Amino acid sequence: VEKIIIDTDPGQDDALAILLALASPELEVLGIVAAAGNVPLSLTTVNIRKVCELAGRSDVKVFAGCSQPMAGPLVTAEYVHGATGMDGADLPDPTMRLQEQHGVDFIIDTLMREPAGTVTVCTLGPMTNLGQAITKAPEIATRIKRVVLMGGGCFEGGNITPAAEFNIYVDPEAAAVVFASGAPIVVMPLDVTHKTLTTRPRVEAFKAIGGQLAEVLVGWLDYFERFDVAKYGSDGGPLHDPNVIAYLLKPELYSGRHCNVEIEVNSPLTRGMTVTDWWGVTDRPKNATFIRDVDADGFYALLTERLSRLRR
Ligand code: BDR
Ligand code: CA
Repeated sequence: VEKIIIDTDPGQDDALAILLALASPELEVLGIVAAAGNVPLSLTTVNIRKVCELAGRSDVKVFAGCSQPMAGPLVTAEYVHGATGMDGADLPDPTMRLQEQHGVDFIIDTLMREPAGTVTVCTLGPMTNLGQAITKAPEIATRIKRVVLMGGGCFEGGNITPAAEFNIYVDPEAAAVVFASGAPIVVMPLDVTHKTLTTRPRVEAFKAIGGQLAEVLVGWLDYFERFDVAKYGSDGGPLHDPNVIAYLLKPELYSGRHCNVEIEVNSPLTRGMTVTDWWGVTDRPKNATFIRDVDADGFYALLTERLSRLRR
């Protein structure tokens, strides 16, 4: 069983990622930390608990992280995810409580307490909390088993600016801290997530799960997709964050390369860009495994099968 911390800003696709993790016996979710991103922290802290309760898991520890990026103002994405961050389905207000400890301290304490090399940190939103944790306690970096993150893009470009993907763009300083930290890193970029499209047959497979769960899933995906299909002209919208969890469960679905990835923080034109030396044209140290390809049908088969286990 792999012990994981999920750091997330739900977000319909974040919600599916959380559900996938909670449905998977191979993973032990030590805690979920809320990030500010798609919507402000005041909403992501609520959304995470709604998702845990939907999964029947009010026992999961949920923490509030930082409300602002390390530098500069918060940029949100209500235009993609709706005013609540999880528009498309109505879930009851959560009754489970938020933990009192700050999310950054939870990350530090957990990594210091658990044996070195045994805890994976999954970031599904801006990397503020992990960046702050490493800044406050640099000794945690070498204790992390691996950071698996959704963010960035190489050949696919960006989605919030031509150069930058949203999660990195919102807090490039935090991402830069993580990429320079020496922790093993796996990047799940737009190059992958734009291949895992919510085509009709795949949404139909979610529908076939039945019950309230299927209604919620389909409501979220329909809402989320309306924006992306118009934007990308694709058959279905990209489903980003569940790829991070799927990678932990079935790495054989993915392929990539160990290379150097640096984060641009200064240029107004390319701020938040993940500058990826895919072709090895520099001798900068290799610091990340950059995933480029996915077996999209295998990914959806895994996701659907696991989520069906949560049906009640
Ligand atoms: C990322 O940004 C958010 O909109 C999604 O939840 C995902 O984490 C994609 O760029
Ligand atoms: Ca996200």
